[in-house]
Parts: sequence; C-alpha cells; structure tokens
Amino acid sequence: MLLEKRRLNYDTLEAVPFAGALGAEIQGVDLSKPITKQIFIDIKQAWLDHQVICFRDQDITPKQQISFAKKIGSIHQHPFMVPMKDHPEILEVIKLENDAQNFGNLWHTDQSFMPNPAKATMLYAKEVPPYGGDTQWSNMYLAYEALSPGMKDLIADLKVENTGNKNKTRGGQAKKDRYKGHSSLKPKDPPKGLKTTNFHPLVRTHPETGRKSLYISSHTQGIKDFAFEEALPLISFLRKHIQKPEFTARFRWGEGSLALWDNRCVMHYAMNDYHGFRRIMHRITIKGDRPR
Ligand code: OGA
Ligand code: MN
Repeated sequence: MLLEKRRLNYDTLEAVPFAGALGAEIQGVDLSKPITKQIFIDIKQAWLDHQVICFRDQDITPKQQISFAKKIGSIHQHPFMVPMKDHPEILEVIKLENDAQNFGNLWHTDQSFMPNPAKATMLYAKEVPPYGGDTQWSNMYLAYEALSPGMKDLIADLKVENTGNKNKTRGGQAKKDRYKGHSSLKPKDPPKGLKTTNFHPLVRTHPETGRKSLYISSHTQGIKDFAFEEALPLISFLRKHIQKPEFTARFRWGEGSLALWDNRCVMHYAMNDYHGFRRIMHRITIKGDRPR
C-alpha cells in the first residue's frame, strides 16, 4: 500500500506516473542539451521518488548517454557480456528477427550476484518493434511492506545466495550455454578468479532513501545456513509475491525512449513477445555499493 502521494512537480521538470506502483515519465528535459546542476538534482530526486524514470523522444549520441550516466555514478562493466566495440561503457542489448531468446526475460535485478551489484541501469531505445518488447518493473519497497508482520520477522536477518552462473533453481545451466544459438548476445568467460556467487541481505535498506525493500531475484539460489530444500519454497513464494500486478509497472518503448531504474529497490523483466521483429537498446549500468 502506498502511504504517501507521489510527487509530480519539480523545479525544472514534471513527473507523470505511468502506473500506481512506480514509474514516471519525465517531461520538460532534453538530454541532448547540457544538464544543469538544478536539472540533475530534479532528475535524481524524481528517480528516487518514482524508482523508474523514462524520457521519450530523446536524440542523444553514445557519448551523451555515457556522460549522463556518469552523473549517477561510475560505469559498471558486465563480467559475462562483450560491450560495444567503440564504446566499452555500453552493452548493446539486441534481439534480431530470427532470435528466439532475449536478454533479461526473468524477474531480476542487475548483477545481484556480484559483491557490489549495479545500482542503476539506463536503457536507451535505438530500434523498437511495432508492438511488444515492453519492460516491466516491480517495486520492492511495496512488496516488502505488503508482507505480514510474521513473515517480516522471519526473513529480517536472512541472507540470500545469488549466483550469476549455473543457477541451481534453474537447472544449473551455464550462462554461455543459455545464450548459445543467440546471434546477438555475446557472452564471454568471466575474468579468472571473479567470484560470481555472493550473499546479500534478503531485506535491504536503501542507502539514499532509508526505506526497506525485498532483494530477491532470478539469481537467488539459496539462503545462508538453510538446506536447498528448505530455502526453495521460501524463494519460490517470494518470487511469486514480487510479481503481484499491483507492485508493477510496464513501459511501452518508442524509438528514443530512455529509462533509468534503481536496481536497489526494483526488479525488472524484459518481455519476449515480438518474434520476427528487432529491438536494439543501448544499456549502461552504474556501479553500486554492497547491499546492507
Ligand atoms: C537489462 C534488461 C530489459 C529490457 O538490460 O538488464 O534486463 O527490457 N533489459 O531489455
Ligand atoms: Mn536486467
């Protein structure tokens, strides 16, 4: 239940919510023009207030996207995926006409298997299908707040085991094999010695808003000090719980749309419902802190 009304007006822009749970379209900002201090203060606040902000009809170069992203924080490099040749900060998320799979077709939060998961993801639409290919998000503040006092107590101090590869709850398949036969996703071996299984609090506190949220994703494959068989029903329950439609928002992309979401308090899901069409997105992720 949302206890406060969401803020719509900022000094330099307006936020127009596109769902009850989260998500707002930002009006009055042209990202190809210099982003002044005050505009950035408002963008940042609107992002924290609405968890996901989207801009429409933007015409920006990769350089402009990179410099906007750097205002949020330093760039996070994906450990398993090959970035754009000329702009290593950007990962092209591509699905072509004959590809069966897409990237991100599970409820997840980016890089939650890393010690310091990405705090933000910025996706800029270069080419979109005539229909389909929407992104969905789910508000993990609301999902946490909706739990019973008993469940909140039970999970208060639990740590989830998140893994980026060979997830036990999904049959243990390696990422490289999962993306085999996909013409446009380029997985690579992660750097040697990189630990891609890490433990994080199941209930985390947002470092900027101070609000508690659930942190459970498709990367979660266990709970610290629990047997797999014990952890699985709880993980399954929470995965289902976070998908409740009232917690979610869905965005219909247009060419030139740009979305920025907060991986610390939302999960997201890329719809795979546009077979025969192509979708090309420029993605930048921003480094985050260790969840607490
Ligand atoms: C991602 C992702 C969602 C989408 O880039 O991390 O999950 O809709 N993308 O493409
Ligand atoms: Mn993702």
